[in-house]
Amino acid sequence: MTISSPILKDKVAVVTGASRGIGRAIAEAFAREGAAVVICGRRQETLDQVAAEIGAGPGTVHPVACHVGRADQIQHLVESTNRQFGKIDILVNNAATNIAQEPVLQIDEGKFDKMVEVNLKSAFRLIQAIAPGMCERGWGSIVNIASISGVRPQYHGMLYSMTKAALIMMTQSYALELGPRGVRVNAIAPGMIQTVLSEYYWKDDAKRAKVLEDQPIKHLGQPDEIAEMALLLASERGSYITGQTMIVDGGRLLP
Ligand SMILES: NC(=O)c1ccc[n+]([C@@H]2O[C@H](COP(=O)([O-])OP(=O)(O)OC[C@H]3O[C@@H](n4cnc5c(N)ncnc54)[C@H](OP(=O)(O)O)[C@@H]3O)[C@@H](O)[C@H]2O)c1
Repeated sequence: MTISSPILKDKVAVVTGASRGIGRAIAEAFAREGAAVVICGRRQETLDQVAAEIGAGPGTVHPVACHVGRADQIQHLVESTNRQFGKIDILVNNAATNIAQEPVLQIDEGKFDKMVEVNLKSAFRLIQAIAPGMCERGWGSIVNIASISGVRPQYHGMLYSMTKAALIMMTQSYALELGPRGVRVNAIAPGMIQTVLSEYYWKDDAKRAKVLEDQPIKHLGQPDEIAEMALLLASERGSYITGQTMIVDGGRLLP
């Protein structure tokens, strides 16, 4: 019998928005595969609890509070990670919000700015701070969590869709320039995944039935089904993949 070694052994990863949902599942998968994983969210106590629940081995989990809409907190996240581990090999831009689920003509500039700051500028700031070190070492993998709403417009979700569409183009642009320097950049576009963010669509029986009617795979997507894709992209197993947006939606966009 062959026992394969963990595929992220000796890798250092930063996963934003990892206190619950998809980010947490990604952090768990990375730790299972041997990485040192720095998890971030806005509340230190929540992160401490998550780190304790995930536990150690073969990788390790390190909680650092960071509001990704704040430049100073991003700087602290990156500096403290580099100080502790000496490098960052993998970045997952997962944290996002959706504060404007409303008709387009009601959207105000404050919400526009906030959605751009949290969902989009955060990824830009983190990549600008982390990718130079990846380029110097000649290895890095960046995974941006977009959405199928960035591929097709979401009704009453203009700002969310817009930030996710821009994240997909940001992914392609970074991939083009950083590929020759050993850094791959990809996105994942999840469909409906059963988390707090999407509970409006699945808690109610009628809405959940409609979601399932619209997709060929007849279960609600689970965070670990996104985590497995993130693992592929983050690890050397995805060595020939860059600039892509992997749609993981139970076939929802097919019809
Ligand atoms: N669920 C879906 O159906 C679905 C579909 C497509 C795409 N996505 C995308 O998948 C990603 C994860 O979503 P999810 O469904 O797992 O959402 P979730 O369950 O609401 O989790 C969001 C995570 O982001 C953190 N977060 C929120 N605002 C933050 C901020 N300003 N700074 C730092 N952390 C912040 C939250 O932690 P704190 O509240 O503790 O800060 C939490 O850990 C998002 O990019 C989302 O757009 C989700």
